[in-house]
Amino acid sequence: MSVTAFSFPTRTLFGAGALRDLPGHLQQLGITRPLVVTDGGLVQTDAFRALVQALGPEGRDRSWFVFSGVHPNPIEEDVRLPAALFREKGCDGVIAIGGGSALDAGKAARLLVKRPDLDLTRFYDQTDWTGLAPLIAIPTTAGTGSEVGRSSVITLDSTHRKAVLFHPELLARLVILDPELTVGLPPKLTAATGADALTHCIESFTCPVFHPMCDGIALEGIRLVVEALPRAVKDGRDLEARGHMLVAAAMGAVAFQKDLGAVHSLAHPLSTLCGMHHGLANALCLVTVMNFNARAHPGLYRRIGIACGLDVVRCSDGEADCETIGFITRFLAGLGLNTRLREHGVREDQLDALVAQAAADPCHKTNAVPVTPEDLRALYLSVL
Ligand SMILES: NC(=O)c1ccc[n+]([C@@H]2O[C@H](COP(=O)([O-])OP(=O)(O)OC[C@H]3O[C@@H](n4cnc5c(N)ncnc54)[C@H](O)[C@@H]3O)[C@@H](O)[C@H]2O)c1
Ligand SMILES: [Zn+2]
Repeated sequence: MSVTAFSFPTRTLFGAGALRDLPGHLQQLGITRPLVVTDGGLVQTDAFRALVQALGPEGRDRSWFVFSGVHPNPIEEDVRLPAALFREKGCDGVIAIGGGSALDAGKAARLLVKRPDLDLTRFYDQTDWTGLAPLIAIPTTAGTGSEVGRSSVITLDSTHRKAVLFHPELLARLVILDPELTVGLPPKLTAATGADALTHCIESFTCPVFHPMCDGIALEGIRLVVEALPRAVKDGRDLEARGHMLVAAAMGAVAFQKDLGAVHSLAHPLSTLCGMHHGLANALCLVTVMNFNARAHPGLYRRIGIACGLDVVRCSDGEADCETIGFITRFLAGLGLNTRLREHGVREDQLDALVAQAAADPCHKTNAVPVTPEDLRALYLSVL
């Protein structure tokens, strides 16, 4: 038996209006000149206005600065520019607010504050990341769970591939889950980001790594998504559903410290090569991978079916998988997440490049069933 480390360390505040307590938390963390990292879309939202109100007007004893240039599926520039601004303004902490893109950029910017000349392709050559600027992470989508994660997903200039920069020091010192901030998220993005959370829970639960704590969290995350996501899509102002989705998204990310699977390996190239939203890419690939896995590993999805509220305890393995996959198929379709890749501009002549990147992506190494490049091609074709 090998030795494993379990950790669930992030301090998390949850509740409608939790953002209003931000000034006290900044003070506790000793942050007097925060840099806010976000994207251009978010600065137009009520979520951002709530942050501005919480931070209060700039004055003699209160200064804060904003970098709002983060791209969806962030690139190196989204890390370098806020790091440079941080140094220029003499900041002493980062508030990352937004979806996974803004959170990942804000998290990683602290790396380049510490080592301005770092070539991000050599990130893993460095081991000492102690003393990073403190981070407060405030998600405004409920999907990636990046706020509680130790990684930052950045597309590198040299490879045009998504690289996962992983280090425990990347963790936020404080996470604020305030459902009021997700009220304005449009239904399509609510659905797509929620599907990312669902995929995190399903892939982490079924990946063959020993972590019963994560397994329990993943199953409860699935139950919450199944119950809350349709409500949040239907009525964005349903604060209870919004809150449950924020918690479920954080749970998905806690669960995937176990690892992920082939859905994420298929999804990452769809973002870098075809510009697709991460959650949408996962949603469109999830069911085909579940079918692929269930064929080789009957019964894999029984407990997920139970978490979805299905009565599959006494079914045969094959029936339990079939019921569960049927449920997830209808669930996604009910959220409008049953389109084909082609409808999002993906072309057959991109398949070779997609397969090459998916094969090089590490997530599928922990898929429930081993996948070959030929399998990845067939999986793409089945949803093209
Ligand atoms: N670090 C991790 O552990 C991890 C995990 C999964 C995904 N990711 C990464 O996260 C990124 C995807 O993040 P995402 O799905 O949250 O999307 P996103 O951050 O790209 O945001 C999508 C859009 O939603 C808008 N938006 C966000 N909140 C809003 C609100 N409250 N109201 C209105 N508009 C709002 C943004 O302005 C943006 O235009 C990808 O780059 C993905 O690779 C990271
Ligand atoms: Zn994801």
